[in-house]
Amino acid sequence: MIYNENDSVRLSADEKSVVIIDQTLLPGEKRFISLNNAQEIFEAIYRLKVRGAPAIGIFAGYALFVLTCQIKDDEDFFAELDQTADFLNSSRPTAVNLSWALNRVKNAALSCGSRRREDILKAMKSEALKIHQEDIEVCQRMSRYGLSLINDGDGILTHCNAGALATSRYGTGLGPLIYGAENGYNFHAYIDETRPLMQGARLTAYELMNAGIECTLICDNMAGLVMSQGKIQACFAGCDRAALNGDCANKIGTSSVAVLADYYKIPFYIFCPTSTIDIDCKTGKDIIIEERKPEEITDLYFDGQIAPQGIECYNPAFDVTDHSLITAIITEKGIIRRGEALEQIISAE
Ligand code: MRU
Repeated sequence: MIYNENDSVRLSADEKSVVIIDQTLLPGEKRFISLNNAQEIFEAIYRLKVRGAPAIGIFAGYALFVLTCQIKDDEDFFAELDQTADFLNSSRPTAVNLSWALNRVKNAALSCGSRRREDILKAMKSEALKIHQEDIEVCQRMSRYGLSLINDGDGILTHCNAGALATSRYGTGLGPLIYGAENGYNFHAYIDETRPLMQGARLTAYELMNAGIECTLICDNMAGLVMSQGKIQACFAGCDRAALNGDCANKIGTSSVAVLADYYKIPFYIFCPTSTIDIDCKTGKDIIIEERKPEEITDLYFDGQIAPQGIECYNPAFDVTDHSLITAIITEKGIIRRGEALEQIISAE
């Protein structure tokens, strides 16, 4: 695996830690941090130092390998591995890539066909690297599919951040814009700031500006006006967990964009690698929505607290967009239009 300097997640050269770009410091500072203990790794996911469903999965895969290398006791090896995987899996509930990647790396250990520690670790490392390599290819394919849905000069509304920071290289929801720009297309991105954690204002704006794409930052409550002014030809969002009926959980506010897009007859697209489809969820009602601390609403990105002391807050981190509002779901295996079944794509080559 050959990393590049913009990869948001990587295994360290000595393979003893996982290195990430601390996304909470962006855009002010691009700092790489190296993590090698379970508590730090858990916190990095919980605090969104590493975030975005695919990036969380890649990170968790490497992290499980790194932490398994530290297990001292041969007798309890598999029990400890299991406990570590469960602990990491409890850091955030909505993005299915977390459990998906942990299971892949854990299963690589269980089915490696040898009881020798070095063989087991080799199998785990190889699976973690494979998850990362696959994601790079998945993002490239999704970017090309996404580009086929839009026209040169289009205005594209984005919500949250589905770029390289959240995935690998091109990203998913931002991929068509970045890949398109490399191929001579000009788009204008309207970036929802994405309250309360500002992934749009901080991360999408940073990535699109670095890619030389024309963009305008708007507050989340401006999307309707911008749509009514004819500035938006398509909306692009990522996905944290898709149910089999096509309902998609993504960053809080995504479903509001979808409702507005429906009203203004603007196509609304969800970018969802097949790793993000959860076959155990029949509909969006089966998806657990993470609820986060009130301080993210009242204090976090302000100089001081702006809301009255003690105000009750509700801070769900995700919402579910009903499948009826999604024009198409873009996967690495193809585009699934409204009304088409998602299930078949999972087993497709
Ligand atoms: O809370 P976050 O920042 O991890 O939420 C991320 C999103 O909702 C992304 O849109 C999603 O993970 C897709 S990333 C390709």
